[in-house]
Amino acid sequence: MSEAGFHIRKLDQGDNVQNFKLGNEAFLPLKTFLQKQAKTFQESNIAQTYVAVTTQNAIAGFITLTCSEIDLQNHYAISDCSHANNYEYLPAVKIARLAVDSRYRENGIGTALLDFAIALIIDRVADSVGCRFVVTDAKIEAVEFYAKQGFTVLNSYQSGASDYHLMFLDLDILS
Ligand SMILES: CC(C)(COP(=O)(O)OP(=O)(O)OC[C@H]1O[C@@H](n2cnc3c(N)ncnc32)[C@H](O)[C@@H]1OP(=O)(O)O)[C@@H](O)C(=O)NCCC(=O)NCCS
Repeated sequence: MSEAGFHIRKLDQGDNVQNFKLGNEAFLPLKTFLQKQAKTFQESNIAQTYVAVTTQNAIAGFITLTCSEIDLQNHYAISDCSHANNYEYLPAVKIARLAVDSRYRENGIGTALLDFAIALIIDRVADSVGCRFVVTDAKIEAVEFYAKQGFTVLNSYQSGASDYHLMFLDLDILS
């Protein structure tokens, strides 16, 4: 599918979320989130989900965003506002979920969803309330994908049976 074959918009309460496939048991929580929780989280203002839909209105991928913060633990300093480095936590938006249906991968949809989210954060969040970073807890399988988009690993930790890598993007490097 070409990049022109889809567009990105907010998840609609009427969207059919049942046909989304991830092709691997390890990704089941991502599918369960879309199918069972994303609409409620959206209505409750806990997290907002944006979907890439095909011309037939099938969901090919989604990204979920929520408010967050980051403790840079002296591993990274803000150069253009040195006083901000005195704060333990700095403002961020978290990519809480990101997934592309296994039938549509490697078509630029993941990148397009990320680009869409970053533009939204810069234009509508950072400009209105202040937000400097994008953060995500990436599983090892996704670290390279995020690194290609400019994210850096801050630290790694284990939760349950999985290893996660806290990755961040300083939005200032894009301006
Ligand atoms: C990670 C994911 C979102 C990428 O989506 P996608 O639409 O296939 O990605 P794109 O087509 O935009 O790929 C962009 C680039 O990243 C690379 N890439 C994509 N997925 C990758 C992966 N898992 N590992 C390494 N590189 C990857 C592509 O080859 C491409 O490289 P290029 O620019 O050199 O050609 C998708 O593979 C996915 O849903 N995976 C399962 C769930 C998951 O891991 N979600 C992340 C949350 S932890």
